[in-house]
Amino acid sequence: MSEPKKLIEVAMPIKEISAESVRDKTIRSGHIQTLHKWWARRPLPACSAVVFCSLVDDPLDPKCNKSFIEAADIILKKPEAGIDYYKPYIDIPYTSNIDLMEDNLRNRLLMFVSKFSENTIKGLINSKAIIPNEILSSKSLIKWENKTDNDLLKNARRLIWACYNSKSGLSGNDLINEHDAFFEKIKVAEQNYYNSVNRITDENIKLKDNLDKSINSYLAKMPLVFDPFAGGGAIPLEASRLGCRTHGNDINPVAHIIQLGGTYFPQKFGKKAVFTTQKYKELYANNEFIKNNLFEDNKETISIDNILKHDVEYYANEVLKLLEEKVGQYYPKNKDNQYPVAYYRVKIATCNNPSCKAEVPILRNFYVCNKGEKKIFLKPIINGKEINFSLEKGEHNISPWSNRGNVTCPICNNITENKLVKEQSRNGGLRTRLLAIIYETQNGKEYQLPDHLNIEVLNKIPILDRSSEKMQKNSAGGDTLSWGIDQWSKMFNNRQYYTLEKMVESVIEISSKINIYDLEYKKAIVTYLGIWIDRVSLVSTEFGVYNTLQEIFSPVFGRQAIAMVFDYPESCPFTNVGGVSFKNQLDLILNVIEVEGKSQFYTQCNHTSSGEKYQFKAKEIDATVTDPPYYDAIAYADLSDFFYVWLKKSLSEHYPYNFTTYQTPKDDECTALKHHHDGNEGKAKEHFQNKLTQIFKSIEYQTNGVVSIMFAHQSTEAWSTLCNSILNSSLNITGSWAIDTEVNYAMKAEKSYLSSSVTVSARPSIKLGIGNYKNVKEDVGLKVAEKVNELYTLGFRGSDLLTACFGQAVSEFGKYIKVEKADGSDVTIKELLEMAKEAAFNALLKGFQGDDFTKFYIGWLQLNGFLETEFDDAAKFTKVGLNINVQDLFKEYILIKNGNKQSLGRMRERNSQNVRLGDGTNNSIIDVAHKTMMLYSSPNRNKLIKYIEFNAIDPDNSMWRVLTSLVELLPKDIEDHKLAVGLLTNKDQLIREAKSSNTPKPEQSKLTFE
Ligand SMILES: C[S@@+](CC[C@H](N)C(=O)[O-])C[C@H]1O[C@@H](n2cnc3c(N)ncnc32)[C@H](O)[C@@H]1O
Repeated sequence: MSEPKKLIEVAMPIKEISAESVRDKTIRSGHIQTLHKWWARRPLPACSAVVFCSLVDDPLDPKCNKSFIEAADIILKKPEAGIDYYKPYIDIPYTSNIDLMEDNLRNRLLMFVSKFSENTIKGLINSKAIIPNEILSSKSLIKWENKTDNDLLKNARRLIWACYNSKSGLSGNDLINEHDAFFEKIKVAEQNYYNSVNRITDENIKLKDNLDKSINSYLAKMPLVFDPFAGGGAIPLEASRLGCRTHGNDINPVAHIIQLGGTYFPQKFGKKAVFTTQKYKELYANNEFIKNNLFEDNKETISIDNILKHDVEYYANEVLKLLEEKVGQYYPKNKDNQYPVAYYRVKIATCNNPSCKAEVPILRNFYVCNKGEKKIFLKPIINGKEINFSLEKGEHNISPWSNRGNVTCPICNNITENKLVKEQSRNGGLRTRLLAIIYETQNGKEYQLPDHLNIEVLNKIPILDRSSEKMQKNSAGGDTLSWGIDQWSKMFNNRQYYTLEKMVESVIEISSKINIYDLEYKKAIVTYLGIWIDRVSLVSTEFGVYNTLQEIFSPVFGRQAIAMVFDYPESCPFTNVGGVSFKNQLDLILNVIEVEGKSQFYTQCNHTSSGEKYQFKAKEIDATVTDPPYYDAIAYADLSDFFYVWLKKSLSEHYPYNFTTYQTPKDDECTALKHHHDGNEGKAKEHFQNKLTQIFKSIEYQTNGVVSIMFAHQSTEAWSTLCNSILNSSLNITGSWAIDTEVNYAMKAEKSYLSSSVTVSARPSIKLGIGNYKNVKEDVGLKVAEKVNELYTLGFRGSDLLTACFGQAVSEFGKYIKVEKADGSDVTIKELLEMAKEAAFNALLKGFQGDDFTKFYIGWLQLNGFLETEFDDAAKFTKVGLNINVQDLFKEYILIKNGNKQSLGRMRERNSQNVRLGDGTNNSIIDVAHKTMMLYSSPNRNKLIKYIEFNAIDPDNSMWRVLTSLVELLPKDIEDHKLAVGLLTNKDQLIREAKSSNTPKPEQSKLTFE
């Protein structure tokens, strides 16, 4: 490779990125995840880090251009005064040894991307709790709070600029100045344009063109970044924020709208606007929306910080007013003129006892509120065949009337089986009944029984013809299909459906009145109104859940499918309180417009097409950063039809090409969903692999630099398929990193590395012809061994290290068109991946010298933790440089058998299976370590001291080193880890006590590393 490596091909601050990424999922206000539901959104910190590291060179690479090194040095060097923010760690905080981190430019660049804060460092070293918004240092690029920090962003953009233009002949300093000059031109043009009075109504072409030109000339000197699978837009959003010429694409028309809403419109239109007071009044005349304080001091002009946010709010309020006129009468107010926050409703089954036929509410839980001391329940009052309720305070012991869909009749005690209830549901649907009305008062939520008016009103709502778009089997439909809920429109009760249809009508009516010359701006406003309907539809189905323990409402799609629900909350459109109010749904959108409006650079959201379609010239893309579907994990097209149905109604006039199909396109979706292939798993897999390969081939053709792929796969199968597609498309893998992005990230104790999220960097490559298996295998071994040492010094351990080695191993054989065995047969990619895994494992063990049982224990722990694995795996790994018989692993309880699976033996399991563990004369080190841990956990200190005296009295004894390795590799929350930490913490004291013990010493075997 004649180009220097990019940072992502050499090192990544994966621990820091993982920690901030996990936190990202909990952030709400202003985060694009609150704009619109999309499944499997990538966390923004991971996206930002991957984009940045895919664009900047490794400063330690001998081929790295001098000017980039100079620029990086200027930006990241120790300042003459003040805090040295990017100083590498004195001791890497997440390793248990003292690991010094060299102060070089590569490490400083890593610290710029993300560095743990001083508090976190202390917390990690002392195993103390870490405060979420202080995980990273205040100057880390990927920290949530820094997404609008202009100084920090400027430095990130300067670094990208300096790297991208490093061959221009300018010095590092000149490149920084050049960047700043181009950026300054944008700022000046923005000032001129955004401050020009009445720009929203009176076109000022010159100023607008000037701004567009200054942005375009800046972007022309920044790399082109493309995401073919952009989904909810996380990757393009971060690439744009970093000042890149960014393009996003997704096959799904719903994703296209979300991307516009998150990555294009706010950055383009969410800006300041100034009006004459007169003009403002004309536009927003005589409306309670006009904030009085805008007119203070008789100012001649009025300035709005973010006009897009302002206008979306204004027109949304207009929609709400109109909607209230259309449907307000179906949501009666109470005597205090208040709307409820929600209604509590339940579906009804008919008792199948022919002599009863009572209408039974399918209730499993009678509490409407069960929050601490506040307990309110529905007490049944049965009168003949009639079931009524009163609301009572306190506890109850009423048995559920519904259990797994089987309904017990409270009148005749007959059980109507689930399948019969389903039949009733399929034959015309289950009616629903209004059980309670929920009001928000000064004393919290108040529950009332529905009065006559509230019940009567339900019968007056007109019944509309419903749209007929179908739900898909086994995916979005999930369990609901067997209940006859096979069309998206069947997810709503009559009032909800009527209200949503009227809301669409209101949006269309209000949109037609928006009189703005800039049609794209008008389209932006209307798009948010459409997005708002989607948000509202989420909280307006019969499939939400009312959590009575917390009094909160969880909308549908808590999971990636729709589960059947019998009792549910129904929101009231016109309340101003509560998380699911229509107003609150709007606020979530407005917050995103506000936050993202602070950036200048928007993503070009390419028209929806399948990723293999060429969108750029050969090698025009500088970096592709993407996140393909995870095999069969999520049925995007099926699920998103929920929204497509509404968006098509509200927005197709503005997006004629986006909504041409009846439902979202399914055939070209790159997923392995067997229900799209007549239930045939093989065909589904083949489709996924072929599609992914085609897309990667097209990417390879269009991309010049690095292709970075984030993949949150669930299985080895999915991972091999991904690697296959990459390698079959003439790309070669150049690095792989385990970056955790899921909430339950904490050490993934019981999971193997293959089930965590991996980011792979790849490059278009010219293949070397046919490789010889033996030579390739040797090269793989050498390369990986070399990499282990390098990554170890950066704090990589265990499965993180293994994943990183794996990428290096694959890159060796990925150089060849194919690899052949001595007999001329081809080595399959599966075999090659296996080889890479073995090489990585072997390289890990080489760093650890000891007896073979101990080596195996440590290596296996790195690879699999305590996960159950297939029986064959043990045999495979003993072949890798170890001289042990697999049967002996079971005899020694290193591995514990469980049917045809096995898992690693923990300290206590091993000691209880063999009470004399570690008592022999020729013990393996792991046995001694486990015996010492056992004794440390028991109250008899003398026994422990004696054992140490005979087996590990020397501070350099291998047993202590094995304990150190265990501390690094064991999951933090298990007993073994606590004991090993305890022993190491007290090591000096224990050895001192052992030394002063007067036991006569027999001849002992030496336990040292060779
Ligand atoms: C894992 S998601 C991307 C999520 C995204 N990174 C985010 O943060 O929201 C994968 C995306 O690939 C899209 N997709 C599936 N098949 C595709 C194809 N053939 N071409 C383009 N996009 C496709 C899906 O619609 C989905 O949005």
